Amino acid sequence: MITQVLVLNGPNLARLGIREPEIYGSTPFEDLAELCRSTGRKLGLSVEVRQTDSEHELIGWVHEAADARIPVILNPAAFTHYSYALRDALAMRTAPLIEVHLSNPAAREEFRHTSVVAGVADGTIAGFGLVSYQLALQAIAELATEDRTGQPEPGLPEPAEPAPEKPATENPDLAT
Ligand code: DQA
Repeated sequence: MITQVLVLNGPNLARLGIREPEIYGSTPFEDLAELCRSTGRKLGLSVEVRQTDSEHELIGWVHEAADARIPVILNPAAFTHYSYALRDALAMRTAPLIEVHLSNPAAREEFRHTSVVAGVADGTIAGFGLVSYQLALQAIAELATEDRTGQPEPGLPEPAEPAPEKPATENPDLAT
């Protein structure tokens, strides 16, 4: 069975190759996209890569993935550090989510040390350039195999236990 994966990229990532190459490398975005697709093929994944500078559009894609139960690899770019709207959308996920970064934000400016996304992801891979995306695809392939073998997906909450019913004497709604 082929697992579909969305690789979503936030603002300024279409500028890869010309954007601060000393930090992000000199590979253009289209080559990164092709690398993701070809790595996916080797892992039995069907990979679609998208990029947007718009928070609105990115959140729409996250909703789409949640509705269709599609795993997501996400480089939220600068949204990582402040977009609670993106985090809230990701919290509704129904399939694995891996946060990726080309650089290592923890080793850069202070404002990059916070990720509002990390807490709702299965894991974060940062600092390995294009390889961050390849490692994330490997992780998704692993999680998809576990899912098929019936093992629980890490990161997704256990179904909630129903609350025990109070006896009528303690429950003001039922006491007459
Ligand atoms: C980035 C790191 C972010 O801090 C930055 O805003 C980006 C790219 C990365 O891939 O290293 O745009 O997400």
